[in-house]
Amino acid sequence: MKFEKHIICIGAGYVGGPTMAMIAYKCPRYKVTVVDTNHERIARWNSDELPIYEPGLDEIIAATRGKNLFFSTDIERGIKEAKIIFVSVNTPTKTFGTGSGMAPDLQFWEKTARQIRDNAESDKIIVEKSTFPVRTAFAMERILSATKTGVHFDIVSNPEFLAEGTAIADLETPDRVLVGSHETPGGLRARDEMVEIFLNWVPREKILTTNIWSSELSKLVANAFLAQRISSINSFTELCEKTEADITEVARAVGLDHRIGGTYLNAGIGFGGSCFKKDILSLVYLCRHYGLDEVADYWEGVVKINEYQKERFVLGILNAMFDTLAGKRICLFGFAFKANTGDTRESPAIYITKRLCEERAELVITDPRALQNAEKDLEDIKGTVIYKNDPYDAAVSCDAVAVLTEWSLYRELDYKKIYRVMNKPAFIFDGRNILNHEKLFAIGFNVYPVGKPPMKHF
Ligand SMILES: NC(=O)c1ccc[n+]([C@@H]2O[C@H](COP(=O)([O-])OP(=O)(O)OC[C@H]3O[C@@H](n4cnc5c(N)ncnc54)[C@H](O)[C@@H]3O)[C@@H](O)[C@H]2O)c1
Repeated sequence: MKFEKHIICIGAGYVGGPTMAMIAYKCPRYKVTVVDTNHERIARWNSDELPIYEPGLDEIIAATRGKNLFFSTDIERGIKEAKIIFVSVNTPTKTFGTGSGMAPDLQFWEKTARQIRDNAESDKIIVEKSTFPVRTAFAMERILSATKTGVHFDIVSNPEFLAEGTAIADLETPDRVLVGSHETPGGLRARDEMVEIFLNWVPREKILTTNIWSSELSKLVANAFLAQRISSINSFTELCEKTEADITEVARAVGLDHRIGGTYLNAGIGFGGSCFKKDILSLVYLCRHYGLDEVADYWEGVVKINEYQKERFVLGILNAMFDTLAGKRICLFGFAFKANTGDTRESPAIYITKRLCEERAELVITDPRALQNAEKDLEDIKGTVIYKNDPYDAAVSCDAVAVLTEWSLYRELDYKKIYRVMNKPAFIFDGRNILNHEKLFAIGFNVYPVGKPPMKHF
C-alpha cells in the first residue's frame, strides 16, 4: 500500500505511544512509526504486554500495529523516510550542575535534534511534542541549521494535553489541539500540514493555531494552573481539620460558582506524575532567569504546598497512632500517582513510603497496575516492604490502611472482611477521600479523612 504521509515519532513513552497510536487509528492512509533508543520498551510495544497501561490502548494498538503503525529502534532509517518528525522524548528535571533540581534536562532533545540533522536527506517538519521551556524552538533551529546539506527544517510546536488514565479519550475528543508555528511561508505551510493531520478527526474549531512561543508557553501555563487548583484546595484542608469544616462540602459550595468550576477540586495527599512538579519548576526557573522573582515565588508556592501536604499526611498517621509507628504494619492501598495508570513517577506514595519506613513501620503495598514500578522505585529502601496483588491479603495483620490512589475498586471492597483480619485498634487514613467514612466508622475503624474531622472510637 502506498501511504499518503509518513510520520515518525522519536520517543515511545507515555506520550509518544498513545498519541501516535491515535493518529494511526484515525488516519489509515498515513504510515506512523514510533522509534526509541530503549530496546526493551520497543520490544514491549511489539508484544502483547504493552509497556504502559491506559484504558482502551490495547484495542487501538491491536487495530493498527503492523498495518500502519510500527515500533522500531531504527531511528536513522525512520528519520530518512519520514517527512514529519514528532519529538516526544523525556524532559525531566536536571539532577546535576547549574539549575539542578529546577531546570529541565534538555540533553535528550538536543541529541535528537543532532541525530535528525545528521540523518535527514530531505526537508522535514519537526514537531515539538514534548513539553519544552518557551523558546526551545529557537535553540533547536540553531542546531538543525548548522548543516551544509541544504536540507530545510520547519519547526512547529504541538504540545500534548492528554492526562494519563484517560489518554485515549483525551486524544480522541480533545478539548483543543494547539499548533504553534512561525509566521513565515515555511512555518505556515508546516502549520497547515499539522492541521490537516488533526482534521481527520478533530473539528476545525478545536484546532488552535498560534505563534510558536505562545504554544510552547501555553503547555507550561496549563500544567501550572491545574497543579495550582490542587494545591489551592489542599491548602485549606488543615484549616478545615482545625475548625470542623468539611473540605468536600467547601469544594462543592465553591465549585458550583461557574466562574470557578467544580473539577480538579478533590482534596488529598497532593499531586504526582512526571509533569506538574517538573513543569512548574521549569517555569519558576525561567521566571528567575528573566528576573521575575515575584512571579517565580508565586508559582513555587504551588510546589511547596504539595510537599507540605504529603508530610502532613505522614505526621497525621504518626499522631493518630499514638506517636509511634515502629513495628506497626501499614497497608498502602494504591501506589500509582493516580487511578487508571501504572505510572508511579513522582507519586506521593513514594515519599509517604519512605517516610513511614523512616518511622520503622512495616509496609504492605497493593495496587492493581503499579506494583512492578513500585518495586523499582523502592529498590534501595531500607525497611520492610511487602508487595501483594490482593488487597484483602495485603490487609491481614495490619494496624492501618492508608488509601493513596483513588482506584474505584477500593470503594467496592468488603471492609467488614478487612476489619476482621486487621490488628485492633484498626485505622483507615483515606488520603483521597473516596471511602464511605460513616460506614467504616460503624464497622469499628478509626477513620481519618483529609480535610474533615476524624471519626474515632476513643
Ligand atoms: N506523561 C504525560 O502525561 C505527559 C503529558 C503531556 C506531555 N508530556 C511531556 O511529553 C514528553 C514525554 O513524556 P513521557 O511521559 O512520554 O516520557 P517517557 O519517559 O515515558 O518517554 C520518553 C521516551 O523517549 C525516549 N528517548 C529519550 N531520548 C531519546 C533519543 N535521543 N532517541 C530516541 N528516544 C529517546 C526514552 O527512551 C523514552 O522511552 C515530556 O516532555 C513530558 O513532559 C507528558
